[in-house]
Amino acid sequence: MLKLPGLIDPHVHMREPGAAHKEDWNTGTSAALAGGVTLVLAMPNTRPPIFDPTTLDLALAVAKQKACCDYAQFLGAGADNTAWNAHPEIPARAAGLKMYLDQTFGELRLDSMTIWQKHFKTWPKHLPIVTHSESRSMAAVILMAAIYDRPVHIAHISLKEEVLVIKAAKERGIKVTCEVCPHHLFLSKDDIPAISQGHPGRGEVRPRLATKEDVDALWANLDVIDCFATDHAPHTLAEKDGDNPPPGFPGLETALPLLLTAVSEGRLTINDVLSRMVTNPRRIFNLPEQPETWVEVDEDAAYEIRAADMHSRCGWTPFEGWQVKGRVRNVVLRGQKAYRDGKILVEVGYGKNVRE
Ligand code: NCD
Ligand code: ZN
Repeated sequence: MLKLPGLIDPHVHMREPGAAHKEDWNTGTSAALAGGVTLVLAMPNTRPPIFDPTTLDLALAVAKQKACCDYAQFLGAGADNTAWNAHPEIPARAAGLKMYLDQTFGELRLDSMTIWQKHFKTWPKHLPIVTHSESRSMAAVILMAAIYDRPVHIAHISLKEEVLVIKAAKERGIKVTCEVCPHHLFLSKDDIPAISQGHPGRGEVRPRLATKEDVDALWANLDVIDCFATDHAPHTLAEKDGDNPPPGFPGLETALPLLLTAVSEGRLTINDVLSRMVTNPRRIFNLPEQPETWVEVDEDAAYEIRAADMHSRCGWTPFEGWQVKGRVRNVVLRGQKAYRDGKILVEVGYGKNVRE
């Protein structure tokens, strides 16, 4: 057995409030534990979106009741909630500020750079800002970070041009960090068999799956990549296969097995994984250590990925049928046996808000 620290996933969508038929705080955090993740940071594009004290209380109340692993909740940047400095106690209760600057699932997109600027000015410098910003909007956000001399974390980069601009920005000392999702490392746009089999919705994700050249560039520039984050974005199979399929892939239960398989193939080291799933996210998002917390993995166990075995409510995975090596056997969270061989062992509500 390989013993790892509890993993941190800084980018998950728990779907509560508002869309518990896709996932709720119980199924989502159960999926986290099954994937060796003991701390998740939840995104604010729920219904209603989480963007002020009232909606933050709403999300945190459900999480407190239902979470099985530890967590924190992001606030979303809107057009009107830009005066964070007037209420400094609010940012401190959140995982960070999430800014949606390109089109995706939900209603939180900000078009005007004037509004971006207000958030950059008033969100406390020592608390994280994360942006969904693709291609040129990413470059614009890095300029904001430089202007206001504050850190910014770029969510789910997927393109060669993005990783190269981030590399250059880091070389200039700009405070930018970034994450990559397993699906952008292991899939290119030609890689989802279900698409050619008449289920195009199963390939829909934002950022879109990219070209082989982009995927290769991410692998070639791993040193630029600070975190692996799943962007666990569950939608049901009926929604994915229906008209207007929403973008998003589930990812909590497949990330570690995919990455460990890459380790077994010599494409990564275990330290590459741990820096990007434990030490870097802890530093970037200012997260506490979880005492007496670890994950036991059978690194030689080979198995096939099957949505039917998963805890997520969404009922599918883009990696269905993939052969992987490395199975999560046990998870201990703050001294309690939390997961063992497919079963969640902690009570619903055991998870703690790490910002409290
Ligand atoms: C996410 C979702 O479904 O909430 N979808 C996605 O394709 N990644 C939204 C997001 O993170 O952009
Ligand atoms: Zn997301």
